[in-house]
Amino acid sequence: MGFGRSDALQLLEEWTKSESLRKHGIAVSICTEAYGRLEAERLGLRGAEADAFAEPYACAGLLHDMDYERHPSLEEHPFVGVGHLRELGWPETVLNAILAHADYSGVARESHMERALFACDELAGFLTACALVKPTKSILDVEVAGVKKKMKDKAFARAVKREDITGGAELLGIPLEEHVGNCLKAMQERSGELGLAGS
Ligand SMILES: [Fe+2]
Repeated sequence: MGFGRSDALQLLEEWTKSESLRKHGIAVSICTEAYGRLEAERLGLRGAEADAFAEPYACAGLLHDMDYERHPSLEEHPFVGVGHLRELGWPETVLNAILAHADYSGVARESHMERALFACDELAGFLTACALVKPTKSILDVEVAGVKKKMKDKAFARAVKREDITGGAELLGIPLEEHVGNCLKAMQERSGELGLAGS
């Protein structure tokens, strides 16, 4: 086994049978990878170099909740998954990002990948919820302004922690609007993979 996107997807599917949890991993991966691409661009990387830079971001997204279905407790998630990935030889940068997405792991969010994964986790779920209430169930019909409005509606998607979305934007050093826009655009561009392309 290698340590690329297809290996991560294979692991996600092996550990997770729930369709919605798989989709969550894919959505978070798409958003986190988008930040990998933005960072690659900022660093002046292009082509294959930019692809290689962004791939671990995509993997961290796919793998971050890999163990959640089997090991949902705070004692086990994401530690069991990370332990397994470490045995397989996955890079520590990816493992640290997975650990740091959990508030209680004690691992600080320092690297750009660690920050991006945390920032995208709740937002990807929220954007999915925003798409699913559209008559078309399409992410293509979701707009940034509507998302911001729904964030203020406490009854909507109440399990999604708003402070993690706003805190994520702060961690990345960008306005909330820009963060929502980046993730929305990334999910819209790959709506087919998410099953959110509408009818
Ligand atoms: Fe997650």
